[in-house]
Amino acid sequence: MGVFYGKVLVIDNNLKFIDAIKSEDKLVHEFPCLFAKTYLEAAQFLKQPKHNIRIIFLSTNIGVSHGVEELKSIKADKPLLPVFLVTHHPEREPKEILANEFGFNKVLRKPKTYSVFTQEIEDLLKSNASWSDSQASKEAKDVEIDLIAEEYVPTLLADFILTPKSFFNIYIKLGQSKFIKILNAGDPLQSDLIRSYNERGVTHLYISIAEHEKYIRFCSEMSGKSLVLDDIPTSKKMHNVLNFGANIAQSLIHTGISEEKLDFANTFLSQSVGLIKAMKMKNESLKKFIDSIEMREHCAAVSFLSGIIANEVGMESIKSIKIVGIAALLHDIGLYDLDPDFKEEELEHFSEEQKKIFDQHQKHGGELLRKCGGFEEVIYQAVEGHHMRRRGSDPSRRSSNVNMVTEIIGAADELHNIVISRHLSDNKINQFAKSNLKNYSLPIEKAILKILQINIAA
Ligand SMILES: [Fe+2]
Ligand SMILES: [Fe+2]
Repeated sequence: MGVFYGKVLVIDNNLKFIDAIKSEDKLVHEFPCLFAKTYLEAAQFLKQPKHNIRIIFLSTNIGVSHGVEELKSIKADKPLLPVFLVTHHPEREPKEILANEFGFNKVLRKPKTYSVFTQEIEDLLKSNASWSDSQASKEAKDVEIDLIAEEYVPTLLADFILTPKSFFNIYIKLGQSKFIKILNAGDPLQSDLIRSYNERGVTHLYISIAEHEKYIRFCSEMSGKSLVLDDIPTSKKMHNVLNFGANIAQSLIHTGISEEKLDFANTFLSQSVGLIKAMKMKNESLKKFIDSIEMREHCAAVSFLSGIIANEVGMESIKSIKIVGIAALLHDIGLYDLDPDFKEEELEHFSEEQKKIFDQHQKHGGELLRKCGGFEEVIYQAVEGHHMRRRGSDPSRRSSNVNMVTEIIGAADELHNIVISRHLSDNKINQFAKSNLKNYSLPIEKAILKILQINIAA
């Protein structure tokens, strides 16, 4: 995974140019790509959802029609996929090709480096949308109104960013479809107001789906900026990154998976991997931060914790840690699809109905993701088996077929549900180490003991 979710497909038989692209390690890492020397080869890549091809660069030298027939064939299957035409010898091309009369995104002449392509990709991915252009919506303020509940997403009140004015129209939910609008976009935003709602037990503020996407963009920018500043403490950076992740997780839960959201998820994972690695390098105590940060949103917390465990267990490459992270972010997608308000951490107090939902959620989540497509096989497996264990006394939950990624997510999940969401205490940690941790393979057990600073001999 690079700066976006998925891969670039380059269809070209100009070996000199392909070698030039391959030599640009850093760019290829940021914009992962596949190479096909023939259209037949390319068609194979396009057929496999796991590659999740997002953009194609097609060379005119690939067929007798200078790429036009190939474009038709691609568009018949994937009408929205951007296709750029590449010509290494513009002087040999018919004028209709050079005038781009066949519907390519653009015709690129004589590219010499990969950066010509990546520049186009960046322009394509750059959304014109801004996070700060919401207008006051038409509903009246401070009176009870009826809204369609599915069109509004909860954001944590305590995390609400205190900018001088509100960039969004903000609501409080009173009942299933009953809301009160408390702020218009553009209204001054006073901390007293937020505090008074907090004191009255309000935990979430609601934003419309359309504005929530802008809110995520805003969170992404804020956490990205804070990560590069030296004078911001790690705990604040971690808070910002987790808040960004929590909003992506909420958006995935409430309004489903989309390419744009996966791009945001990818940015969140880049930020969390960067932060985890930096903390490890500085030898900062992870336990201290886990203890000091409130990780309220389950999926973002599990994703971040999975990254920490993956790194500790010896997964060095950013790509592998990000795969673990995305699987973790999506691990309970089946649960929330069955019941958006489900709280896995209240496991012990489940009703019969909730137990039934819980029993189905791994399988259901796997099915949802497989239907959506575009993920690595190991991600599906992790979602389908995150409550299965390698060891332990419960035969219904034991399997020798649990891979490392699944184990990491299972461990991060339990760590959050059982230990962190109920506040760390030495007693709870020790209990967790003595019972739950024994159900995992040895490397996972050791890694978590180290993170939690428990002496193995103890
Ligand atoms: Fe789960
Ligand atoms: Fe979970």
